[in-house]
Amino acid sequence: MNICVVGAGYAGLVTAACFAEFGLRVTCVDKDEKKIESLKQGKVPFFEPGLEEMVQRNMAQGRLSFSTDLAWGVRNSLVIFICVGTPSKEDGSVDLSAVDEVAAQIGEALDGYKLVVTKSTVPVGTTRRVEAIIREKSKGKYHFDVANNPEFLREGSAVEDFMRPNRVIIGAESDQARAILRDLYSPLYLIEAPFVITNIQTSEMIKYASNAFLATKISFINEMALLCDKLGADVYQVARAMGLDQRIGPKFLHPGPGFGGSCFPKDTRALAHFAREAGVELEIVEAVIRVNKRQREWAVKRIEEALGGIQDKTVALLGLTFKPNTDDIREAPAIYIAQEILTRGGRLRAYDPVGMENASHVLNGNVTFCSDAYDAATGSDALVIATEWNQFRNLDMDRMKELLARPILVDLKNIYDPERIRDKGFAYYGVGRN
Ligand code: UDX
Repeated sequence: MNICVVGAGYAGLVTAACFAEFGLRVTCVDKDEKKIESLKQGKVPFFEPGLEEMVQRNMAQGRLSFSTDLAWGVRNSLVIFICVGTPSKEDGSVDLSAVDEVAAQIGEALDGYKLVVTKSTVPVGTTRRVEAIIREKSKGKYHFDVANNPEFLREGSAVEDFMRPNRVIIGAESDQARAILRDLYSPLYLIEAPFVITNIQTSEMIKYASNAFLATKISFINEMALLCDKLGADVYQVARAMGLDQRIGPKFLHPGPGFGGSCFPKDTRALAHFAREAGVELEIVEAVIRVNKRQREWAVKRIEEALGGIQDKTVALLGLTFKPNTDDIREAPAIYIAQEILTRGGRLRAYDPVGMENASHVLNGNVTFCSDAYDAATGSDALVIATEWNQFRNLDMDRMKELLARPILVDLKNIYDPERIRDKGFAYYGVGRN
């Protein structure tokens, strides 16, 4: 079967490469000529473990190709996945202009039955809107179906998440659409991945509800951490004990400087916004957004408190991406923290294994990008860990102590044991365990 994936961004490229790996013939289309040129050379424009190798392998075997010609991609495919960006607008709503534009072009290129699937995270009702645009542009000449099939890929483990999903959600309302999508994902029957087949609105809603719930767990534990700090309780143990209750589960209960990335912040804002438009105030989701904002502000205060003021101090900042194993800095708490330190007259010695290139475009002023964690610590007034890269988990703290001007560790990801660090002569500041 031939399929076309529109959008060679994060979700689009992973989807295209993984479907090709399933043995399908995939054309991945993007209007960005430079990006497509570089993909034709087998170069993936961002860091994602395992993806570049998969792209190159499938290109070499003739199953994956790249093009800027959307009409060609549509005509040569039975299924078209829309994976273009859906960024946030100022008011929290979703900018659907790229989705609308692609829908119009699909409508114009339609030459027979096609299944058009929204895979980007889109507000409930968007797939119907895509259907209306295609119908208008194709002047009702051809029969086609639309469906929604959200992705649940985590950056840093996207290939694994695609290949071994917890579930596959299919929002489709015709037998033909459901059958085609089941067929596309049939390699997952072998690993018994559960399929949930719903109507289109339900499927769109499942994605938002899932992300908002995970964000809620994070904001909840962050709020508990603030209270633990005040009352002398240890949130690490609180979370661990809570997680042992099987109804709660241990995942997404790690406190920190708040959630970032391209999904949770945008999706919680979008959900709150389209709910308000539908006349429903989502009190919990609104609170989750507020708590997340407060948490990153709290992280800056924590550093300020540890240092006794930020003005003229040098901070060794470890980790600039929103989480490990990615070069993505979108809405990263680390970037907010870095900017606040600079605004308050501090200096930064920053290090991140793969995020420094991206960070260098947004951090201006008194920043030195360093060659490793020890280089960052040299002469700094405090060591701040903002992203839990594996290589920060086993730092030689005796060496760190010698390199730092002052032995202060602000561990915003709680990756070190406070007692052991204090025993080494450090002042230790964690999240909810002081
Ligand atoms: C998320 C969802 O997990 C994924 O299913 C969806 O498709 C896209 O959004 P992603 O943004 O890649 O994926 O990262 P994730 O690992 O979920 O982490 C998101 C943010 O939450 C990160 O900033 C992370 O540091 C933070 N987080 C996560 C916490 O602060 N505490 C936790 O316990 C878990």
